[in-house]
Amino acid sequence: MRIGVAGVGRIGTMHAANLSALSQVSEVVLYDPVAGRAEQAATLPKSRAVPALDELLDGSDGVLVATPTDTHPSLVRACLATHTPVLCEKPIAADVAAMSALVDEIEATDVPVLVGFQRRFDPAMVDLHRRIADGELGAIYHVRATGFDAQPPDFSYLPSSGGIFRDLLIHDLDAVPWLVGEPVVEVYASGSVLVDDAFAAADDVDNAVVLLKFAGGAHAVLTGGRHDPLGYDHRVEVLGARDSVAVGLDERTPLNGAADAYSGFPDRFRPAYRNEMRVFTDVVAGRAENPSPARDSLVSLRLAEACEQSRRTGRPVRTHQWSTA
Ligand SMILES: NC(=O)c1ccc[n+]([C@@H]2O[C@H](COP(=O)([O-])OP(=O)(O)OC[C@H]3O[C@@H](n4cnc5c(N)ncnc54)[C@H](O)[C@@H]3O)[C@@H](O)[C@H]2O)c1
Repeated sequence: MRIGVAGVGRIGTMHAANLSALSQVSEVVLYDPVAGRAEQAATLPKSRAVPALDELLDGSDGVLVATPTDTHPSLVRACLATHTPVLCEKPIAADVAAMSALVDEIEATDVPVLVGFQRRFDPAMVDLHRRIADGELGAIYHVRATGFDAQPPDFSYLPSSGGIFRDLLIHDLDAVPWLVGEPVVEVYASGSVLVDDAFAAADDVDNAVVLLKFAGGAHAVLTGGRHDPLGYDHRVEVLGARDSVAVGLDERTPLNGAADAYSGFPDRFRPAYRNEMRVFTDVVAGRAENPSPARDSLVSLRLAEACEQSRRTGRPVRTHQWSTA
């Protein structure tokens, strides 16, 4: 199987290495418009650089899109045109209108388009999802999700980040409704600037709390922020009528002075990123269902926008009219 990788920056280079390590992948073809970047990444086993996007699309069994967000819709459309399965990094489009149009186009084809929300590929999260779906936890009462970066991003990134809900909490706004398996009917969000005034200057916040209410009455509380002095912290805890399960709580969780705490998302989600490439190639081979469809990513973007609206107005936002979970 030949997989093309469009964009070999930070995340594309990691995905290319994980693809190259898979036995079912015979060749990884790399393209990046920045001179020398694809050639440098092509030192990976089984990989080669090509000088043009057409050469990447031509003959690839699947394409991984790891380019800047504004290029995602046109690259996904190029893959649809050649009937090539694609895994596109999140978000597949920058705003609701553009994403909505793209999702409709995707669904008018039978081409699998996976969205790179890595929590959906994390082995522990996948197991929790299966256990909830199989009823092992019973009726879900409550979910707590924690997502804190170790260090804030470069402040020059903030004006284009979309804000804390679209940039950081979007991952749990995708994962938590996926786990619960019900539509979100109401959102309330609050935020503060506690880490650095650069966030206020960018009209953003650096710490936030989200309350989601699900159609069946369960609640989820999502907390997220841009700085944790001990390391990168991502956890999910689910309390049901029969069992209570935590994911991400281990000896490397940055709590209580943990010595070797997770340094960042690539470290914390290493097994997830590896499994993401394995699942993608299984979908390409027709052996697996798409666990991260484009339509679901439209729901999480709408939830992020509802959070932003709630934070700014101080009021809850009813969301049932467009939830599709
Ligand atoms: N799922 C995750 O955990 C996660 C983490 C980080 C980034 N991302 C997403 O991944 C995407 C890339 O982020 P990054 O941090 O790797 O960015 P980056 O800037 O490090 O890399 C992007 C690369 O794409 C190349 N590129 C630009 N236009 C291209 C084109 N038309 N065709 C091929 N290559 C092109 C650039 O030259 C660059 O090398 C973003 O959409 C981001 O939101 C997802």
